Amino acid sequence: MLPSNTYNMLHCFCGLVYLSALLAFATLTGAQSESLLQLDPQRVVVRYGDSVEVNCSTSVLHKGMGWEASQGGVSMTRNQSLITWRVSELTEWDIKPVCYINLIDSNQSLVHLPVTIYKTPDSVFISTVNHRGPMTEGQQYELQCDVHNVAPVQNLTVKWYKGQTLLNQTTFTNTIETPVNKTVTLLIGPDRADDGAQYWCEAELDLGAEGPQRHPTNSSKPFNVEVYYKPKHSSSTETIIQDDKVMLDCTVKANPASTYTWDHLKEKSSSPVLKSSALSPGNYTCTATNTLGRDSKVFIVKSKYTDRTTFWAIVLTGVVVAVALIAAYLIFKFRFSKNSVI
Ligand SMILES: *[C@@H]1O[C@H](CO)[C@@H](O)[C@H](O)[C@H]1NC(C)=O
Ligand SMILES: *[C@@H]1O[C@H](CO)[C@@H](O)[C@H](O)[C@H]1NC(C)=O
Ligand SMILES: *[C@@H]1O[C@H](CO)[C@@H](O)[C@H](O)[C@H]1NC(C)=O
Ligand SMILES: *[C@@H]1O[C@H](CO)[C@@H](O)[C@H](O)[C@H]1NC(C)=O
Ligand SMILES: *[C@@H]1O[C@H](CO)[C@@H](O)[C@H](O)[C@H]1NC(C)=O
Ligand SMILES: *[C@@H]1O[C@H](CO)[C@@H](O)[C@H](O)[C@H]1NC(C)=O
Ligand SMILES: *[C@@H]1O[C@H](CO)[C@@H](O)[C@H](O)[C@H]1NC(C)=O
Ligand SMILES: *[C@@H]1O[C@H](CO)[C@@H](O)[C@H](O)[C@H]1NC(C)=O
Repeated sequence: MLPSNTYNMLHCFCGLVYLSALLAFATLTGAQSESLLQLDPQRVVVRYGDSVEVNCSTSVLHKGMGWEASQGGVSMTRNQSLITWRVSELTEWDIKPVCYINLIDSNQSLVHLPVTIYKTPDSVFISTVNHRGPMTEGQQYELQCDVHNVAPVQNLTVKWYKGQTLLNQTTFTNTIETPVNKTVTLLIGPDRADDGAQYWCEAELDLGAEGPQRHPTNSSKPFNVEVYYKPKHSSSTETIIQDDKVMLDCTVKANPASTYTWDHLKEKSSSPVLKSSALSPGNYTCTATNTLGRDSKVFIVKSKYTDRTTFWAIVLTGVVVAVALIAAYLIFKFRFSKNSVI
């Protein structure tokens, strides 16, 4: 048997645990304040400097209710069940409005209104880091996007585009209510296909379901890249059958544009096209050159007769036929003259 005082102490202790558990439950669920005060809407997303309006209402009798806020506060009123927090130009970045109610039993209940204030950037600027002028194929460059005076940064996405293609995007993990400046970089290794391409960056604010459904978006100006690349023929040789009008075209894309030289000719030709009615069979080498390098291409001009044996066979046949004809003629003429002599 336990002494009675110990029993009483235990009983008391159990009661305390029970009570605190009950209190913790009530606090955790917040059931009381939710049922006492209703906010409409429950949270707001407002553009900096815009107007905003939120109703706080109750269905219980009270000794007074009001809004506490650094802008648009509503002093305690006793005779109303709906009070409106109203601001015509919201300019307080860290505003935290609270609607409260003083109950008949002198308890107070309150509810916080979550407010997101956003601001589209003053400017979105694209530039290159430590570089000016044309880029060179095969090298790396850094593009930079400066987003000025935007809020809130946790809802910002900076996107990079080349033409209409999304290249990369960046979001930010820090939570800052006030406007910030953000700089984002992109590493690019442009190739010849990128000559004349347009890069640009974009700042987008995704403010969730309560925010504008068309995400506020601001874009930089397009940044045109010029890429320098050396000439490179798609094939290094080309076979051409000799014809009445042979044309050898050595034209190849390059930036800056190539100059051309032809080996076969005694006189230098700067034209990429060699056009002649009297090109003998042989190899014609053309070299395209620009500031970055050179690339040669060989044109193999072949005789109309696909190979030498056919050519000589035809020549031989011709000779044989000619000889035969001449022989026949001579024999005939010789016989005829002999007969006439007899
Ligand atoms: C607030 O309540 C008033 C009166 O009922 C209503 O006219 C107004 O539209 C409500 N405003 C919002 C934001 O719900
Ligand atoms: C509430 O009381 C104030 C004065 O305290 C009065 O101006 C107002 O008209 C009253 N409103 C209602 C709905 O009774
Ligand atoms: C509100 O007051 C009552 C007494 O009227 C009290 O029993 C209760 O614990 C109080 N509620 C809170 C949440 O403080
Ligand atoms: C952002 O940049 C502007 C201009 O460069 C500057 O005036 C402003 O103070 C910067 N803001 C922050 C938050 O650093
Ligand atoms: C793309 O963005 C991610 C994170 O924002 C970054 O780690 C990565 O280096 C970027 N890629 C390029 C090619 O810049
Ligand atoms: C953007 O803002 C909304 C409204 O403030 C918020 O609910 C949401 O979580 C934010 N999104 C991100 C990715 O932080
Ligand atoms: C940014 O975009 C918004 C709409 O998305 C527009 O109202 C605003 O004028 C733009 N800001 C600048 C600096 O162009
Ligand atoms: C022409 O080039 C071809 C292939 O490059 C080679 O086989 C041939 O011997 C060359 N002919 C002459 C006359 O140089």
